[in-house]
Amino acid sequence: METLRDKVAVITGAASGIGRAIACTLADRGAHVVAVDIDGDGVYALTSELSGRGAAALPQRADVADPVAFEAVRDATLGRFGRVDVVVNNVGVLTNGLPQDIPVTEWQRIVDVNLMSVVRSNAAFLPLLLDQGSGHLVNTASFAGLFTYSYDRMPYAATKAAIVQISEALAIYLRPKNIGVTLLCPGPVLTNIATTIPKFGEGAPLRIPGEQFELLDPAPVGELVADAILRNRFFLPTHPHVVDELRRRVDDWDAYIDHQVSREPPIQKKGR
Ligand SMILES: NC(=O)c1ccc[n+]([C@@H]2O[C@H](COP(=O)([O-])OP(=O)(O)OC[C@H]3O[C@@H](n4cnc5c(N)ncnc54)[C@H](O)[C@@H]3O)[C@@H](O)[C@H]2O)c1
Repeated sequence: METLRDKVAVITGAASGIGRAIACTLADRGAHVVAVDIDGDGVYALTSELSGRGAAALPQRADVADPVAFEAVRDATLGRFGRVDVVVNNVGVLTNGLPQDIPVTEWQRIVDVNLMSVVRSNAAFLPLLLDQGSGHLVNTASFAGLFTYSYDRMPYAATKAAIVQISEALAIYLRPKNIGVTLLCPGPVLTNIATTIPKFGEGAPLRIPGEQFELLDPAPVGELVADAILRNRFFLPTHPHVVDELRRRVDDWDAYIDHQVSREPPIQKKGR
């Protein structure tokens, strides 16, 4: 895509953090923004801010786990702007607990919000992009989907790994059809994601990917995404030196697991 000016971008999870930063950057570069979020007040606040800055913005309150949410967002987008050029599948929610403590119902919730939202978004938007023969998809995964630094969020990491695979397959399928795919893999970014993490059982401290990955502000991530769309770049880690970690794992996977075990903080026993 040569320019974002007058392109129509649908962004999920746009009311906060990384999604909000992407919405602001794309709007600043001339795109029309459809801001989707379960937080209705948040999307209305964002779109009125963007409109005040001269952008065209449409708020859409929606739960991405709702099976019919994306059809409604697609129809509203076509009604207002007549087309869709960029789809940013960005919603993701965390959970916390040891593997034996996270209930199946919580697995299902995380799969519905993090993974099935991407599947449903593709079902709604991909036919449009294929028909028009142009467009760009951005899928937000995570370092948690690239390598395993923690056992305290298995459903989250599993959905993020699935998003990596879906994105790579789509990139191979869609690149010859003039549709780009970007896999955004954030490391630590200062957002609201850690404010409402459900916790199951005891003794599952929230582990970080590694001390070498500094905490970033969301705004530069928005800029990285805009540039990746314009340069049709697939792999977009927020911290490029994550490739050192990936090489280390592929070089000797058993040694890598030993390395992660050695980072283990002492688990606090109940009653101590
Ligand atoms: N912040 C980080 O350190 C980090 C690291 C790796 C990956 N990520 C990923 O980045 C993405 C954005 O996360 P963030 O850090 O900006 O979090 P955030 O909590 O600040 O923003 C997430 C937004 O998604 C919305 N949302 C949550 N559930 C929803 C639902 N069911 N339907 C519609 N909207 C919903 C929330 O209301 C919120 O506005 C997520 O996919 C997350 O997994 C973040």
